[in-house]
Amino acid sequence: MAAEIGVGLMGCGAIGFSVAEAFVRGEVPGGILRAVFDQNGVRAQAVGALVHPPVSVAVDVAEFLRTEGLRLVVEAASQQAVHEYGAQVLQAGCDLLILSVGALLEPPGSDLPALAERWGRRLHIPSGGIVGIDGLKAAAFRGEVEVVVLTTRKPPYALAPETLMERLHLQPSEIREPMVVYEGPAREAVRYFPANINVAATLSLAGIGPERTMVRIVADPRITLNVHEIYARGAFGEISITVRNITHPQNPRTSMLSVLSVLATLREICRPGIHLGT
Ligand SMILES: NC(=O)c1ccc[n+]([C@@H]2O[C@H](COP(=O)([O-])OP(=O)(O)OC[C@H]3O[C@@H](n4cnc5c(N)ncnc54)[C@H](O)[C@@H]3O)[C@@H](O)[C@H]2O)c1
Repeated sequence: MAAEIGVGLMGCGAIGFSVAEAFVRGEVPGGILRAVFDQNGVRAQAVGALVHPPVSVAVDVAEFLRTEGLRLVVEAASQQAVHEYGAQVLQAGCDLLILSVGALLEPPGSDLPALAERWGRRLHIPSGGIVGIDGLKAAAFRGEVEVVVLTTRKPPYALAPETLMERLHLQPSEIREPMVVYEGPAREAVRYFPANINVAATLSLAGIGPERTMVRIVADPRITLNVHEIYARGAFGEISITVRNITHPQNPRTSMLSVLSVLATLREICRPGIHLGT
């Protein structure tokens, strides 16, 4: 039998907690959680305490990356964490599964694919809160996609209050009717809403890039779910998808589907055998 893949968890918030729970339940055969790290030590301790046998709760990233047998780091922290630690993770000989995908659109995060190639490492990007990445990637294989539009609707409280204030001079509670709070390319969308619209970065990497992938974000006080509508057109035909996501109980910005997509990706990485779509 192949040796188990040592996994490190960077970020112990909503997603990190759920990922650790999945390891405890034995839902990632072939993988073993070896270390956790978070800039918030209390959260790291809480997640570390879930796991048996005990894992290393690292106080800084250097200690985290020195963990014996670490081969894969799951980033569930922030774009800032990807910028700050991404290259160190790859240099330490680990593959990196990234959730804060928006970081890949700006330097230094945008250097990571080339570094991974140079050092023979892999960057894994789960489909997160959307579906259809597999089909879009296939459609774009010969550059035959012309249009990609993502329309995301979220309740106002699930959108970055500081960005709403800066762009519209509004608090989330002051939005009483559906309101378009952003319309433009994916590159800027992830800049303005770094914790909300990573799926725009994932779509642009799969399809036609961050300048041509168009994003509309609607703050909708009538809904409680996070809704993504994806439209793509090209020589291949058309894709039209709507995803209505239940949100994570610990973080209304994050959908449960994104947690499940991490777990499905992790299971495929850790277990030889069938690899489906994305
Ligand atoms: N790709 C997708 O579809 C998708 C879906 C949902 C969430 N996300 C992204 O995944 C990330 C995690 O989401 P979450 O809901 O668990 O967030 P969360 O806010 O609940 O937890 C994030 C945790 O990471 C820690 N952290 C943040 N920056 C750090 C740093 N520089 N160093 C160390 N620790 C750091 C925080 O202290 C926090 O405990 C976010 O960036 C979020 O935007 C992506």
